[in-house]
Amino acid sequence: MRKERRLTLQELAPWCWELPQTTVQAGSVGEAAARLDWPRFFDNDHPVEIEVGMGKGLFLLTQALARPEVNFFGIEVVRKYQLYVATRVAVRKLPNVKTSCADAKRILHGFVHPASVSAVHVLFPDPWWKLRHRKRRVFTPEFATDAARILVSGGKLHIASDVEEYFGVMSDIVQGMPAFRVLDTNESRESLEAAGFQTNFERKAREQGTPVWRAVCERTAVPV
Ligand SMILES: C[S@@+](CC[C@H](N)C(=O)[O-])C[C@H]1O[C@@H](n2cnc3c(N)ncnc32)[C@H](O)[C@@H]1O
Repeated sequence: MRKERRLTLQELAPWCWELPQTTVQAGSVGEAAARLDWPRFFDNDHPVEIEVGMGKGLFLLTQALARPEVNFFGIEVVRKYQLYVATRVAVRKLPNVKTSCADAKRILHGFVHPASVSAVHVLFPDPWWKLRHRKRRVFTPEFATDAARILVSGGKLHIASDVEEYFGVMSDIVQGMPAFRVLDTNESRESLEAAGFQTNFERKAREQGTPVWRAVCERTAVPV
């Protein structure tokens, strides 16, 4: 991976969104006033897709370059990765990407308007192997409900993992929700061979010969 030129925080600012400093409780009504106004945020009314846990940003960058008519908002809880991705998009001066360093659960719950996003991507979320750490997993029933709430009818939730057990948990959650219809799943690497890898973790999985599980879920018209 090419090393990018180091940019100052000021230079990165157009590609970074900071959570408002608020004294109100996370997820409370007080946060609603600070919700992201996408047309103002991106200065256009193009559809918006959110990536949760973008890591080093391979997916975000390739998608933003390939689809300039779509806006991408990448959320990453680790600051150094967010700044790394912001730098990658800033040096290319991409107008259709913003990044944020935050817990995606909090942003989806408190800062995104209902029915305002065309896709949510949760690709290779941290599995948190130890049982006592499982509560740190990002994909929970509450998270899936928030994803359903912010997606437009017909919008897509994309999930992928190289951990069969975690993929099973995510699948069970969405399959139990009338707000989602599971369109497509596959349990092997075959379709990836044609598609090419999408994320850094996907690339690693392919190199190691680890199977990848993925699904695309469509938002139905059933209210959440
Ligand atoms: C296993 S990595 C996968 C990165 C990338 N999606 C890929 O496939 O290469 C998971 C990423 O999600 C981030 N992450 C974990 N929990 C998060 C949360 N609650 N909100 C936002 N990002 C989170 C981690 O810091 C990490 O960068």
